Parts: sequence; C-alpha cells; structure tokens
Amino acid sequence: MVGALKGKDYISTQDWSKDELEMALELSAELKRMFKNGIPHRYLPDKTIFLMFFDKSTRTRNSFEAGITQLGGHAHFIEAATSQVAHGESAKDTGIILSSYGHGIAIRHDLVPGEGNAYMREIAKWADKPVINMQCDVDHPCQTLADLMTIREIFGKDLRGRKIAVSWAYAPSYAKPLSVPQGLIMLMPRFGLDVVLAHPPEFTLMDDVLKIAEANAREAGVTFEIVDDMDAAFEGADIVYPKSWGIEALFHKPDEALRIAEKYKDWICDERRMKLAKEEAIYMHCLPADRGNEVTDAVIDGPQSVVYQEAENRLHTAKAIMALTM
Ligand code: CP
Repeated sequence: MVGALKGKDYISTQDWSKDELEMALELSAELKRMFKNGIPHRYLPDKTIFLMFFDKSTRTRNSFEAGITQLGGHAHFIEAATSQVAHGESAKDTGIILSSYGHGIAIRHDLVPGEGNAYMREIAKWADKPVINMQCDVDHPCQTLADLMTIREIFGKDLRGRKIAVSWAYAPSYAKPLSVPQGLIMLMPRFGLDVVLAHPPEFTLMDDVLKIAEANAREAGVTFEIVDDMDAAFEGADIVYPKSWGIEALFHKPDEALRIAEKYKDWICDERRMKLAKEEAIYMHCLPADRGNEVTDAVIDGPQSVVYQEAENRLHTAKAIMALTM
C-alpha cells in the first residue's frame, strides 16, 4: 500500500482517500517517534525536491527543508519572483524541466483566488514526479493534516461527537488566504468531527469548497453548520480554530478588505470566549497569529493552546507526505 502512493500528487486532501490519509497520519506518528528518539530514517536518500514559493513562509519552508534533509535528500528553494516564472515561463515548461532534475515539486501559490490551485494542477499535468501543495488559494493540505494529527494526539482517533469551531477573526496585518479554513471544513468532517464555520457576512468561503464540506459531512454522518456569530460557534466546542482571512473578490484590493474587516475588531479569541467552549477545549492556529487582534496573549500562551505542538507536527506530516509520494 505504501508503494501505491509513489508518484501521487498531494494537491488537496480531497484527492486522497481516507485510507491514504490514514497511512500518512500513521507514518507521521512513526517519523515523529523516530525523530524524537534520534533513530535515523533516511527513506529518500539522494532525492531532490524543488520548493517553489510565490509567497512568504516560516513553517512550511523549514519543515520541508529540514524534513527532506532528515530523510536523506535535499531541497532546492525557488523564489518564483527571482526565477524565470516571473518572466512568464509556462507551467508546462517548468513542470517538465524540474521533474527531469529531481523527484518531487512542492509549490506555495496562495494569494490570488483562482490561480494557485490551477497552476499546481497544470504543473502536475506535465511533471512526471509528484506535486505537493504547500498552500494554494483553495487548500492547505499540509497544514490540515498536521492539525488532524494534533487533534488525534489529544482526543484520540474516535472524534465522533466532538465539535470544531472554525471561525474568522480580525487581523490588520494582511488579507490572509482562504485556504486554511477551507481545508479544515473539507477534511475534518471526513474524520468524524462536527464542524461549525463562523464568519461575518462579507467573509464567505468559496462556493465549491462549501459544497464539498457539506457533502463530506453528509457522507460521514456529521454536521456542518455556518453561523455569523463567533460566540455561537464557540458554545460547547472541543476545538476552536479562530483565524483571519480575506474577501475572495477583494484580493486585488487588499486595503478595501482590511477596511471592511475593521468593522469586526471584536472578533477576537479571548478568555471570555474560551469559557464558552468546553472546559477541556483546545485552541489552535496555523500561525503566524496576529497577537492582540486574532487572539489575546492570555489564550495563545495559555494552557488550552496547542499551537506549538501543531506547528511541530508540520515537520512530521511534511516528511510523511514526501516519503510516501517521492
Ligand atoms: N502555517 C503556515 O503555513 O506557516 P508559514 O506561512 O510560516 O509557512
């Protein structure tokens, strides 16, 4: 079964069956154990992955670079802006050529709705090596796999009857991509969580993604609900995941989106709101967080926060995806 994933793209969790995602989670846990015990795990000796970034990154870049080194391989960091992509080189040419030089291509292209996912799928069409999505406009499947790993480490594998609140929160720093909340609402119902999505009316997610989330919930026999009230979403939640995102139609006018967001400065995750969730509820965020806006220091640094465990699991899940597909 492990060999069955060699060469498979990982562009959305939706492209992988539940069994395939289970395999990735199991390998992530095994790689975590080996890493922590200093056990070598050079599963990809002398293999090369190309990491192409159209946007900034701390966790994703470094989890992939450290991860491939620990697996015995090597990463090339490619900043799209300083490569020939910036001069208009086609996805076809880039995909064919990079895949002839190495063993995998990973891409972050997340800031323009309608572009990143399509670009990755075009690269994948021409590349004869696996393409891994390091965050696009639609999904952030490396992040949500690490989130699911973290949730299962805390609550166990049987998540039925537990509720995750995925909520918009205010942030003045920049119009953040839609892909994390979208990835969460697509993936979490498949693994048994009831999902509540909360956002102000202007901050809707992509229609196609909402349809997938609804269908996944229906198929899994769990609930998927959308509300416009952060308090209501937090009521009785086991997991709260409040973060900011932009307005799909305004990514080319980010200042306008940020002005609209200012109406909702009270959408912050603070100690009062955490009390609405269950006593044992956990606070999650993919990071970077806008401290003092999306979340108070008391919450993100408090006993319910699992953000560092969640960020650490980015390493183990990135390694599992590379080891399975490359
Ligand atoms: N969560 C996440 O993807 O972090 P980076 O943007 O730092 O990669």
